[in-house]
Amino acid sequence: MPFDAHDHLVPGTVTPERQVPRSITRPPYVGLQTPPPYAGDNTYSDAEVARIRAAGRIASGALDAVGEAVRPGVTTEELDRVAHEFVIAAGAYPSTLGYRGYPKSSCTSVNEVICHGIPDDTVLREGDIVNVDITAYLDGMHGDTNRTFRVGRVSTEVDQLVERTHEAMMRGIKAARPGRQVNIIGRVIETYAKRFGYGVVRDFTGHGVGAAFHTGLIIPHYDSAPRYDDVISAGMVFTVEPMLTLGTHEWEMWDDDWTVTTRDKSITAQFEHTVLITESGFELLTVSE
Ligand code: MF3
Ligand code: CO
Ligand code: CO
Repeated sequence: MPFDAHDHLVPGTVTPERQVPRSITRPPYVGLQTPPPYAGDNTYSDAEVARIRAAGRIASGALDAVGEAVRPGVTTEELDRVAHEFVIAAGAYPSTLGYRGYPKSSCTSVNEVICHGIPDDTVLREGDIVNVDITAYLDGMHGDTNRTFRVGRVSTEVDQLVERTHEAMMRGIKAARPGRQVNIIGRVIETYAKRFGYGVVRDFTGHGVGAAFHTGLIIPHYDSAPRYDDVISAGMVFTVEPMLTLGTHEWEMWDDDWTVTTRDKSITAQFEHTVLITESGFELLTVSE
């Protein structure tokens, strides 16, 4: 019973945790309630960046594979299986599995789910959208990326939300330059989103990523100035992952303590890349080729 009479999503049945071969190295937080504190910073050497890029390539490739599997009739559980198999076949660990007790290898966030939807027996229907968020851990580094997929044909309103959320992410990324404060990113994203009257989620943010899944650096997607005044520098790595809605930016949490939905049940989309800041601009570290 994945949707109720109002077409709103309701919790489904979650299957037991998938196995990861013993030969694949786990991140340090697996089996702990909370990750060990991260002592490092958010800048990386070229050799370290190469390792984040390798992890990011696996996460992106997994999204490519999941995207091929998205169609009416598929369950979010099946999409998670595709993600899991791709990541472990590449020799990497699916970072969400066992992160603060999270039970799956991806997040699958359908329609009004803003983020952190848990894959279950929900059957996707023509016209739905599903965000799939995958992080791969390889050689001590995490690469974190998500995309929103359309299930068959979707309404024009939803189609434009998805397209513009991707555009908002790219505008935010392009605004990030050495010497600017990180709050430039959200300022640009929010200004663009407001043109269309979209809600801009504030309480879930981008983050430093690499040697830790979440390093402590916060990247807001709204204009947060004068807060979040960390100065961007070459060699920094963080995610940009805006969540835009057709209604409110306010949210509520399911009893599973993970699934975050819009309070008004309006449809919401998200895209995410792990980004390296360079002297002259940026490089996306979560790409497939
Ligand atoms: N990948 C998500 C992010 O972009 C985090 C998911 S944590 C989980 O930060 F535990 F919900 F999986
Ligand atoms: Co992220
Ligand atoms: Co993510």
